[in-house]
Amino acid sequence: MKKVVIGITGSIAIYKTCEIISRLKKKNYDIEVIMTESATKFITPLTFGALIHKPVLVDDFDETGYQIKHINIVKEADCFIVVPATANVIAKIANGIADDVLTSSFLAATCPKIIAPAMNVHMYENTATQKNLDLCRSYGIKIVEPEIGDLACGYQGKGHLSDIEDILDAIEYMISPHPLQGKYVLITAGPTQESLDPVRFISNHSSG
Ligand SMILES: Cc1cc2nc3c(=O)[nH]c(=O)nc-3n(C[C@H](O)[C@H](O)[C@H](O)COP(=O)(O)O)c2cc1C
Repeated sequence: MKKVVIGITGSIAIYKTCEIISRLKKKNYDIEVIMTESATKFITPLTFGALIHKPVLVDDFDETGYQIKHINIVKEADCFIVVPATANVIAKIANGIADDVLTSSFLAATCPKIIAPAMNVHMYENTATQKNLDLCRSYGIKIVEPEIGDLACGYQGKGHLSDIEDILDAIEYMISPHPLQGKYVLITAGPTQESLDPVRFISNHSSG
């Protein structure tokens, strides 16, 4: 069973993560959810816990279980996606900051990683955010680009969380094996095979 860790941050697009999780659940993935404190102000962990049928990780320091939660949760994960990803969490990931359970887990994860940003157009286009996204790309993290659209803040522009199908496709892609990855393949056109033009035989010898 493939294990997908979902990191959820404090963006208004958070409600779409419910649909993403229930779609992933139908594919029979083992799902773990981590939320930032801000995310819990939008939707309670109860909702996500009910969708995945297990507790959601919000606090690394609570004393239940006595395990190192941010390390345990990413063990043997096949993919870690942050959806929606705030400008704040992207900045932290870009700079290796691990000051909460989501960012600590992300830093500890060695599996393929995805970030699906969602924010106001000016936050998205800000040079700082763009530089942070470039840094994330340079670490091999896949960015599922936000779309242009009507934003919750009333603005229009790029920042709208990507289409759910694109996010699901990105997860599917990241957890699938890529046997040709890193290999160079030379494709030739193959031999030319064609019928010869009809040739009339002309003999030098006269028969008479
Ligand atoms: C109503 C509301 C909507 C917000 N939506 C977004 C958003 O879509 N994207 C974003 O980057 N920040 C958004 N913010 C700001 C973040 O919640 C804020 O930066 C917070 O510190 C992020 O914390 P986190 O990254 O730890 O989840 C929103 C804040 C509020 C109050």
